[in-house]
Amino acid sequence: ARERTLVTVKPDGVRRRLVGEVIRRFERRGFRLVGMKMLQAPESVLAQHYERHREEPFYAALLGHMRSGPVVAMVWEGPSVVRASRAMVGLTDGAEAAPGTIRGDFSLHIRRNVVHASDSVEGARREIQLWFRSSELVDWADEG
Ligand code: CMP
Repeated sequence: ARERTLVTVKPDGVRRRLVGEVIRRFERRGFRLVGMKMLQAPESVLAQHYERHREEPFYAALLGHMRSGPVVAMVWEGPSVVRASRAMVGLTDGAEAAPGTIRGDFSLHIRRNVVHASDSVEGARREIQLWFRSSELVDWADEG
């Protein structure tokens, strides 16, 4: 099946001009960009996206950060793209993330960690539906 995942560049990543860097890494790996938009994330989207963290002590700061500026949301497609994206993004805490990963190369912070990537195929399906209308996703092929 065509696997897809949601990747977002968080407000800290946008502020730091890292949007192109993130896109470059996914393109260079060979994944297919099938949806992309910049937006001020609506409160309702963030509440659903981070529903499982609602009781965490860091929840208010997390939502505050995600509302602090625009987000670039993308849908990437390709073989094992969910697992591959997690590997490319690195551990949640930038200070712990391995060099060579996006967070390991660009972050030392657990909240300002530049990007989000879905953590499972089922989670990706749910997050893509939450952030994108189906009409905003574009099917395209390598052969014209
Ligand atoms: P992400 O994995 O994209 O989604 C959940 C986010 O919560 C995570 O990135 C971090 O930005 C944030 N987060 C997770 N754990 C903590 C923590 N202990 N303190 C602050 N923020 C956290």
